[in-house]
Amino acid sequence: MNKLVSLLSLPLLSLPVYANVEFLHWWTSDGEKQALNVLEKQLTSHGLALSPSPVLGGGGDSAMTVLQARALAGNPPSFAQTEGPSIKSWDAIGILHEVNSVAQKHHWDETLYPLAREINKTQNGYVALPLTLHRLNWMWVNHKLLNSLGQPVPKTWQQMFTIMELAKRNGISPLAVGEQPWQIAMLFENLVISTQGVEFYTKAMVELQKESIDSEPLRLALQQLRRISLLVENSLPDTKWDTATRALASDQALFQLGGDWILGELMANNINVPNDVGCYATPESDGVFLFNMDSLIFMASKSFNFSQANHAADILADKDFQRDFNQLKGSIPVREDIDISDFNPCQIQSYQDFQVGITNNKVVPSMIDSMAVNPVAQQAINSAIFRFYRDKDLEPDTVIKRIIAIAESN
Ligand code: BGC
Repeated sequence: MNKLVSLLSLPLLSLPVYANVEFLHWWTSDGEKQALNVLEKQLTSHGLALSPSPVLGGGGDSAMTVLQARALAGNPPSFAQTEGPSIKSWDAIGILHEVNSVAQKHHWDETLYPLAREINKTQNGYVALPLTLHRLNWMWVNHKLLNSLGQPVPKTWQQMFTIMELAKRNGISPLAVGEQPWQIAMLFENLVISTQGVEFYTKAMVELQKESIDSEPLRLALQQLRRISLLVENSLPDTKWDTATRALASDQALFQLGGDWILGELMANNINVPNDVGCYATPESDGVFLFNMDSLIFMASKSFNFSQANHAADILADKDFQRDFNQLKGSIPVREDIDISDFNPCQIQSYQDFQVGITNNKVVPSMIDSMAVNPVAQQAINSAIFRFYRDKDLEPDTVIKRIIAIAESN
């Protein structure tokens, strides 16, 4: 029996910290760091010291670029945060350690939601460890500001625009927007899915079908995006999503649209959610669950072999850890058998909406985090949409042509 295997069978708390594992990720905001601390503690209490390699940039575009460069240079981290179909691409180049024995020990086939199984499995079995299920079609509302305007929570985009315009006239920033390509693309996909529905969204943004891209519904969504860009004219380029959340939390902005990592951020900053900042489905997207999923991939290298990878994965597959991590992260767990009754009410709402979404076939992957399309197309589409958002003179048709070109070269 080698040293690692024998260590696996020892009582866990008596283990010395015997090895360093490097983790490449993009969890750098307050809420993300709190969740990351739990991950670090989970590893150290089981004898593994974490050496985190954070790459700034929510959404993970920069982190993925760094990961690719390091993999090409033959110097990958021990494990890395990743999402969606890129897991299959990483596996196809033969660089991932499979974690099938961990999956078996932790009953993944029986307990993971089917979409988590689908995303994290290839013909080699499980090649990634799923960790979070985030919902992206959330509208976060500063109740104090909304009350000061004497307005109800908007249920339609028409109401939303009316309230945002009223807020602006009253000197209140209508929408906290992180101005980076992936965040503007998230705003856009929220518009598409809520105003045009899941079926259209899937054809246009997931399957990248030409007829759906070159269409009136997509033009309409772009016009709405332009309307938003004119409303929030004074915001600064490159504003991070958590800076935007801080504006929402400190009564400087009325709404924020986006994933429930925003909830993690609000909770980490002791904001009372949902009393002071409420969570609602993006207008007209009730019953829809637009999601992304964080997974961990374990990468083969001279310094990180199969047993080390499976040891780390075993520790991180632990049900209690998965529960604690998600509770702080703002997301919901990827397994069906985790009790979330003491999670934040917004997470409980997310869980219930997820169940309804599954029943009605309205659980759909987000395009922005390469959950839906490959990372190259995803980044190109994100930047085309971002360019349109920033350059007020660009016509919707210019973006449409660009997206079609990206789809055709895909
Ligand atoms: C990830 C989240 C992360 C968010 C903002 C998303 O791509 O799935 O885990 O909190 O980006 O950084």
